[in-house]
Amino acid sequence: MQIDEISKHVGKTVDLRGWIHRIRSSKGIVFMVLRDYTGIVQCVVKDGIPGFKEAEGTGMEASVSLKGKIRKDERAPGGFEVEVKDFKLVGPSDNFPIREFQSPEFLLDYRHLWVRSQKLTKIFKIRSDVFGLIHEFFRKRGFYEMQSPSLTQIACEGGSTLFEVNYFGQKAYLTQSWQLHAEAMIPVLEKIYCVAPSFRAEKSRTRKHLAEYWHAEAEAAWTDHEGSMKLQEDMVSYVVQRIIKMRRKELRELGRDISKLERIKPPFPRITYEKAIEMLKKDGIRRKWGDDFGAPEERALAKHFKKPFFVEKWPKYSKAFYMKESGDGKTVLCDDLFMPEGYGELIGGSERETDIKTLLRRMKEFKLKRKPYEFYLDLRRYGSVPHSGFGLGIERFVMWICGIDHIRDTIAFPRVMNRIHP
Ligand code: 4AD
Ligand code: MG
Repeated sequence: MQIDEISKHVGKTVDLRGWIHRIRSSKGIVFMVLRDYTGIVQCVVKDGIPGFKEAEGTGMEASVSLKGKIRKDERAPGGFEVEVKDFKLVGPSDNFPIREFQSPEFLLDYRHLWVRSQKLTKIFKIRSDVFGLIHEFFRKRGFYEMQSPSLTQIACEGGSTLFEVNYFGQKAYLTQSWQLHAEAMIPVLEKIYCVAPSFRAEKSRTRKHLAEYWHAEAEAAWTDHEGSMKLQEDMVSYVVQRIIKMRRKELRELGRDISKLERIKPPFPRITYEKAIEMLKKDGIRRKWGDDFGAPEERALAKHFKKPFFVEKWPKYSKAFYMKESGDGKTVLCDDLFMPEGYGELIGGSERETDIKTLLRRMKEFKLKRKPYEFYLDLRRYGSVPHSGFGLGIERFVMWICGIDHIRDTIAFPRVMNRIHP
């Protein structure tokens, strides 16, 4: 039986199995808090029952299976206690290295064991559902799932964050985004999406950058910048509204203010980059045309909004080469979707340039070598159609949904600049 089912079986003797979350013994009685993936419950093992010696001799995080009678107990965590009748040690554990009040660095060194913590268990359940809901959303909307290669020779998002790999003697990179290959699939499936890892050699240590993160991306034919933003706000709202129903308990236990998530419904406010610069100026933050936004700007702007908000039409030199020009000579048809409460950028998206001459000019401006991009240019030579797409960082999404302050706790084994182990 799972621990979260015991309330329905008071007075009965049941089988439980799991890991010892906490243990202490005194005068012939062992008190242990048993943990499984559904919750925790206090169990009492008294001298004389089968397996008492093993129970007395083992430690935190040993795996056990037991038979016991459930009774109500107001003082026990969760309100129930199990009186153990038969105890079996499955996998012993002595001197579990993680104790209370360990430093974050220590917990990262022992990440393979720290993943068992109550906090991370809750976050990983939410993360799993977020993945499921993203797939559900796109499939309901008639999108096909399509994958791009992770090994590539082209940069989608600029050269500064590329991870280089030796590909049988040739220089290659780990992909930053599925996008450029995805665009080749537009004339095939028209509406496509993917959930896959993206890689960024981020040389800064921040609370929201990973070197390897999970990227939910979509690309749609016959869709303009407006249509793309609509899809983005629908998707974000869909996942948030469903998750607060499915994981209310976990969100509460994580201390999340769910009322802040309840209001996440379309439409999301939109401002232009130009307007954002003005708003920042009024808040006493001076940024010149073309500057990107960092955490202070993101936080200042977020104070004006209670929902995620789009900042659209960025200066063309501050964004990627493939974005369609707005026609004003200085901006592109793109959007960044920022999360409320200062969580920062969640999505980057744009309409794509379809005109080959403009694209070639843009590539020159960005000093891109033409050869590796020839296949991408072919897509403009043969039956190009208006299309748009976007990418959402799933760990950032989970971070905001859970209301936690560091991206590393949204993924089991975070990859950041100074850590690739365990
Ligand atoms: O804004 P980005 O760089 O956009 C693209 O890669 C586009 N090619 C996507 C597309 O149009 N198909 O990245 C998209 C999102 C960001 O908004 C952010 O949420 C996330 O990916 N992201 C990261 N998440 C964690 N760690 C990092 N180092 C990230 N870099 C980007
Ligand atoms: Mg971006």
